[in-house]
Amino acid sequence: MAATVGIGLLGLGTVGTAVARRLIDEWELLGERAGATPVLRRVAVRDAERPRTVNLKNVPLVSDPTTVVDDPDVRIVIEVIGGREPAATLIEHALAAGKTVVTANKLLVAHQGPELSRLAEQHGAGLWFEATVGAGLPVIALLRGSLGADRISRIDAIINGTTNVILTHMRRDGITLRAALADATERGYAEADPSADLDGWDAAHKLVIMSWLAFGVHVQPESVDRVGIRDIDLADLAYTGQLGYTVKLVAHAHTGDAGAVHLRVRPTAVPADHVLFGVDDSDNAVLISGDLAGEVMLRGLGAGGESTASAVVSDVVEAIRRLDAQPQPPATRPAALLDGEAVEVAKYVRLRVADMPDARQLALQALEDRGVPVVEAIDKPPIDGPDPQLLILTGSAPRAVHDRALETVDSLPFVREIVSTLDRIEPSS
Ligand SMILES: NC(=O)c1ccc[n+]([C@@H]2O[C@H](COP(=O)([O-])OP(=O)(O)OC[C@H]3O[C@@H](n4cnc5c(N)ncnc54)[C@H](OP(=O)(O)O)[C@@H]3O)[C@@H](O)[C@H]2O)c1
Repeated sequence: MAATVGIGLLGLGTVGTAVARRLIDEWELLGERAGATPVLRRVAVRDAERPRTVNLKNVPLVSDPTTVVDDPDVRIVIEVIGGREPAATLIEHALAAGKTVVTANKLLVAHQGPELSRLAEQHGAGLWFEATVGAGLPVIALLRGSLGADRISRIDAIINGTTNVILTHMRRDGITLRAALADATERGYAEADPSADLDGWDAAHKLVIMSWLAFGVHVQPESVDRVGIRDIDLADLAYTGQLGYTVKLVAHAHTGDAGAVHLRVRPTAVPADHVLFGVDDSDNAVLISGDLAGEVMLRGLGAGGESTASAVVSDVVEAIRRLDAQPQPPATRPAALLDGEAVEVAKYVRLRVADMPDARQLALQALEDRGVPVVEAIDKPPIDGPDPQLLILTGSAPRAVHDRALETVDSLPFVREIVSTLDRIEPSS
C-alpha cells in the first residue's frame, strides 16, 4: 500500500474546517491507524478569497470543486458542502472515476444513498457516510458492523439536536417556542432557516438512512409519517411533565409482517422509565432493538463541527484500510410500507369541555365506545377562556381508530375544542 493517500476536501465550513484541522494536525496518528497517511491535496469552497480560520499549510484553496475531484493525486474525496446539488454531481463524478467518497450529507444519502452506493460498487469505489446520522456517534458502524448478525426489529431515536435543545429549554424555563428558537439560533444550535429541523425533515432523513441499513429497504423521505414541533404548546409540556412524561421529537421505525416497515417522526410523550427520557439539550440518542443483542443505545453529541469531523475522519481512516477491497453496498429491497393508519399508538389528548354535568364522562365514553381505551383522565382548570380542561391518556389502538374516535369527540356539543394530541410511549410498569 502507498505510504500516503491524497485527500480532496469539498467544503470548508463548520464541518470542513474541523476535518481539515484534524487531517493536518494529526496526520501521523491517522497514518499509523490507517496504514497509510492521509494527505490533504486540495480544498474547494464557494469563495476562495475569504480568509479562513484553519491554516491549510499551503494546500491549494480553489473555487472550482471539479478540479478537486479531477486532481489525479486525490484518491478520496470528502464532500461537506451539503444540499443536493452540486454535491450529487460531484460525488457521482468521483465515484465514476473510481474514487472513494466520504460524505456527511444526510439529505443526499437519504434520497440517493442506494443509487450512489451501487455506482460506487460498479466502479470499485467506496461510499462512506458515518457522519450522516448522529455526527460522532457510531450509528452507521453499529448498524453495518457490530449488529451485522442481528435481525433488527425497531429503532427509537432522538436525532435532531436543534429541536431537542428547543424542547428542553421550553420545558425547563417555561418559554415559548419562538423564544427558545431565537435563543437556539443565537447560541448556534439552529440555522438561519430552521425549517428542516422544526418540521422534522432532518430527523426523517436520518431515520431513512438508519432504516435502509437496519431493514434493507429504502424509503423515500417524503413517505415518512412526519410531524414537526411547530405546534407544541407550553401548557402540554407542563401537563405531560406533571404526569411523568417529557415531550421529545422521536424518530421511530419498526418492521412488521413480511418485512414491511413503518417510519415516523413525531413529537412524543416519553415516560420517565424510558431510556430516552433524560436525553436533553443537544444530546442525541439512538436505541436499536436486535434479536440477539437486545436493546443497544448510543448517546452523545449529535452535531457540531468537531463531533461530525470525528465521524468523517474515522471514515477516511477506515476507507484507507479498505482501499483495495471496499465493503459491499448495503442490501436494498424495494420498500413496502406498513399501513400507517393501522399502526397501534397510545396518545395524550387535551380537551376543553363545557362546564356542565356529565360532559367529562360522556367524552370519555365516546372514546371507549369507538375502540380507544382510556387509561387515565385528569381535570385541569381553564386557561385561555372559561372552559375546564380534560387531559386524557389513551391506551394502544390503531391510529385510524384514534382519529375517528377523536373526530366523534370533537363533534360532541359540549366539547369546545380538542386543543392538542401527542403520541405517547406507554410506561413499561
Ligand atoms: N454542522 C453540523 O453540525 C453537521 C452535522 C452533521 C452533518 N452535517 C452535514 O455536513 C455538511 C456540511 O455542513 P456544514 O455545517 O459544515 O455547512 P457550512 O458551514 O454551510 O459549509 C459549507 C461549505 O461548503 C462550501 N460550498 C458551498 N457551495 C459550494 C460549491 N458550490 N462549491 C464549493 N464549495 C461550496 C462553502 O463555501 P464558503 O465557505 O466559501 O461559503 C462552505 O465552506 C452538510 O451536508 C450537513 O448536513 C453538518
